[in-house]
Amino acid sequence: MQQVSEVVNSWNEWDPLEEIVVGSADGANFEPTEPGNRPQIRNAPPGTPFPSGPKSAEAVDRANEELAGLVSLLESEGVRVRRPAPHDFSQSVRTPDFEAANQYCAVCPRDVMITIGNEIIEAPMSRRSRFFEYQPYRELVYEYWNADPRVVWTTAPKPSMADKMYRDGFWDWPLAERHERMHSFEFCVTQDEVVFDAADMSRFGRDIVVQESMTTNRAGITWLKRHLEPKGFRVRPVHFPLDFFPSHIDCTFVPLRPGLVLTNPDRPLREGEEELFEANDWELVEAPEPTTGNNEMPEFCQSSKWLSMNVLSIGPNKVICEQQEKPLQELLYKMDFEVFPVPFRNVFEYGGSLHCATWDVRRVGAGEDYFP
Ligand code: ARG
Repeated sequence: MQQVSEVVNSWNEWDPLEEIVVGSADGANFEPTEPGNRPQIRNAPPGTPFPSGPKSAEAVDRANEELAGLVSLLESEGVRVRRPAPHDFSQSVRTPDFEAANQYCAVCPRDVMITIGNEIIEAPMSRRSRFFEYQPYRELVYEYWNADPRVVWTTAPKPSMADKMYRDGFWDWPLAERHERMHSFEFCVTQDEVVFDAADMSRFGRDIVVQESMTTNRAGITWLKRHLEPKGFRVRPVHFPLDFFPSHIDCTFVPLRPGLVLTNPDRPLREGEEELFEANDWELVEAPEPTTGNNEMPEFCQSSKWLSMNVLSIGPNKVICEQQEKPLQELLYKMDFEVFPVPFRNVFEYGGSLHCATWDVRRVGAGEDYFP
């Protein structure tokens, strides 16, 4: 296996946390409509245009206040917290292959950055507006990379994001066609180029579980396999056939400690894929119904009500959970977790909740084999 570094060392989602990056809403913009994304205002009549350009100062302040609350909580638990560098997300981007009117934000480092042991990987990404989203984290990456020669830094190959990389019409497929195509796991990105977002992975020591989704294709998973397996990891593709718009695994399949995964009752694993877990005595526990229905989620939020289960573990029995999600907190108490509730709803419209809005850089512990 890889070497252990005192600077960058994180092998799973639950070991005791030492250092983490918490996102920031500074300079955030609305996500633009593009071939990889069609944002919609919740409960608005069809055709209502989604806003564009910078988010309002009030919305940014509200999110930043909750992010600051998370920072204080983490610091009071002895965790070192780092933040992204300022970035002008209102800048348009242009490469030889595409143009995007503006960029998005640095609220969700989880989507872009991942620590696997002593290695930091910058994901290729799947959306044009997020092509350069690694930039706010580069200063930190250089700091870690300079601090310890054992730190490995990898940027995955960038896809073209040209029109041909996307499947024309995906967003308009009628429901029947969608049902049919779901079985072949074909979404808005084609299979020709390497595409993945970091948040489609979940780390279980030697095993890296990765979901095929709108943001991660089979070429992306192949790249991860060829990159990680020679180092001793096993890359395990998983599928959730009832999720019609899958992106990012952390509202669907969330490991809490060795032997325990929180699962999404609306999104069961593809038949047969639970065997690995069952054979190794892992318990799959369904998350309770979220306190907010899909229709009551914030109007600009593009995620589902299952942001409820997007918890952040700061130790194998310590979980940070959104304040209003009492049923989930109850379940966690019953399973002997110490629960830390924090308000986080004003962050939802920026793409996620507590797990999405963070990127853990260092946890105590090494790369164990949980599926021997
Ligand atoms: N697609 C997920 C859902 O709506 C949201 C995932 C958010 N995760 C993230 N890392 N940004 O349930």
